[in-house]
Amino acid sequence: MTHKYISPETNEKLYFDEANNCLKSQDGQESFAIKEGVPYFSDVSSFGEKETQRVFGAEWETFTEYDADNLEKMSYGMENFYTDKTVLEIGCGSGRHSRRLVNKFNAKHVEAIDLSDAVIVAKELNKGIDNINVANANVFELPFEDETFDIGFSLGVLMHTTNPKEAFNSMCKKVKKGGSAVIWVYAKTPRKYFMEFFRFFTKNSPTIIQKIIASLLSFLLWPLVLLSKKFGISLSNHFKEYAKYDYYVYKTDMYDRISAPLIAFFSEKEIQNWFEDEGFEEIEVTTYGDFFVRGVGKSKE
Ligand SMILES: C[S@@+](CC[C@H](N)C(=O)[O-])C[C@H]1O[C@@H](n2cnc3c(N)ncnc32)[C@H](O)[C@@H]1O
Repeated sequence: MTHKYISPETNEKLYFDEANNCLKSQDGQESFAIKEGVPYFSDVSSFGEKETQRVFGAEWETFTEYDADNLEKMSYGMENFYTDKTVLEIGCGSGRHSRRLVNKFNAKHVEAIDLSDAVIVAKELNKGIDNINVANANVFELPFEDETFDIGFSLGVLMHTTNPKEAFNSMCKKVKKGGSAVIWVYAKTPRKYFMEFFRFFTKNSPTIIQKIIASLLSFLLWPLVLLSKKFGISLSNHFKEYAKYDYYVYKTDMYDRISAPLIAFFSEKEIQNWFEDEGFEEIEVTTYGDFFVRGVGKSKE
């Protein structure tokens, strides 16, 4: 079972041109390159999106061992939600959730997209899993027909786009009537703004500087995580949460926090409004610690 790609510009169906290793429209006017088995649809022009490609491409190409099980931890009450469903995953990064959606949550099929070259890593790390497809695409210009997926899914992504609510709307357009959407975005809490101080100085730095600063900060703060891990003494929720993970996860997330070009934070009320404005029903908005707001809802039949 696979979703046929369409041109995000003209909505025309595309076919595989084996001789030129690309996807082409019937009239041959449009053509999309395939790199290392991954079709490339994204065509970005804004500085924010170009920086997003640079930073997240570097993150997932560097930290390929990152495999934190956030999805399991953050899927409370949703154990059977994905069973036998087709899922559109927005912002797959290195594809750790795509893999879990299929292997642990029994999704029927996952079409994963990301704006950056993380897609090459996602393709490689998920090779051999036939029911995962990966493409390079922008959430605002998705290469799929409207109303074709059972579930629109996005964990930790929409707040990194140029317009998070529009990104959500764009994802929801691809969900069938009666299908569902599930998202996690950063929660609006005072603690989150602390990192924003660092990010102001580091977000435009060269990748090598960002990596050095992330290594330095995680090295300096790791003893406080250990204090929580070994003795249960937590100076903040941040250290308590990372006590569940190893140093590699901490360092990767530190790089993510200080280098992401675009970040926004949301209240539960804002996310509730997103789902209501989409006309969804059975909306449930909850929080995961003071880290994420999770929204789940069902599109009207
Ligand atoms: C913090 S990472 C999260 C990756 C993955 N969801 C995870 O939790 O491991 C955010 C991802 O969103 C992607 N992203 C940002 N803006 C995007 C856009 N406009 N369209 C598609 N993906 C985007 C980035 O390239 C990046 O890989």
